[in-house]
Amino acid sequence: MKTFKRIAAGILSTALLLGMTSCATTKQTEAAPAAASFTTVESGKLIMATNAFFPPYEYYEGEKIVGIDAEIASAVANKLGLELVIEDVEFDSIIAGVQGGKYDIGCAGMTVTEDRLKSVNFSTPYATGIQSIIVTTDSEIKDIDTLLDGSYKVGVQSGTTGDIYMSDTPDNGGVGEDRVERFSKGNDAVIALTSGKIDAVVIDNEPAKAFVAANEGLKILETPYTVEDYAMAINKDNVALNDAINQALKELTDDGTIPGIVNKYIPAEG
Ligand code: ARG
Repeated sequence: MKTFKRIAAGILSTALLLGMTSCATTKQTEAAPAAASFTTVESGKLIMATNAFFPPYEYYEGEKIVGIDAEIASAVANKLGLELVIEDVEFDSIIAGVQGGKYDIGCAGMTVTEDRLKSVNFSTPYATGIQSIIVTTDSEIKDIDTLLDGSYKVGVQSGTTGDIYMSDTPDNGGVGEDRVERFSKGNDAVIALTSGKIDAVVIDNEPAKAFVAANEGLKILETPYTVEDYAMAINKDNVALNDAINQALKELTDDGTIPGIVNKYIPAEG
């Protein structure tokens, strides 16, 4: 349990540092004349990669992808005079796609981690996420310690921080590869849990709440949580776009747009 918390604290402090660095960068941008010198993958467009089964950050309403990330990215694109194009892809292909120049941003409730920072840069964090554990209401699993000590099978979305933590060895706060089942969508992990194929799902708190509300017989454990920062992944070479996005995020935070979007989807946190 200690390790579980320690990893999270590491990520958080990295994100805080990143936030501070980003603020410094933003100031420089402000001082300079507002030259829109950034380029995007396709001129006039902001191509966002996401994995749209992650309510309330991104999910389908009919044919349309809506949610906190979709709305924040749309507001950012508007500020930058770009048309937002959302591509729904496998979560674990987003970083590589941003790094390879296929997408301008990865915006998917994506946690800033040291490992990901080796491949991409991140914008200023715009939201906070928490890893939580979903079990069936009659489960013997009472907390993270029971989950780690037992021989329980844990479902995760492939390539997510839940996957990374849980796949780690027990002395590093995970349950180890053998006990982890990976799913391409968080909801598929939840379906496996309801049908008794696995014993728990580790996933971000807000989607966890949405999945628990949509399925009978599930609950979220009140257990020590990890706190993470969500930010947009951006190609390391596109510093100008990164700066422009940070500036847009700052303005949209200051004028209440981003808090308003978050409030609309997560009223309790308002
Ligand atoms: N916050 C977690 C991570 O970055 C999970 C994100 C999953 N996002 C999604 N749109 N499916 O690894």
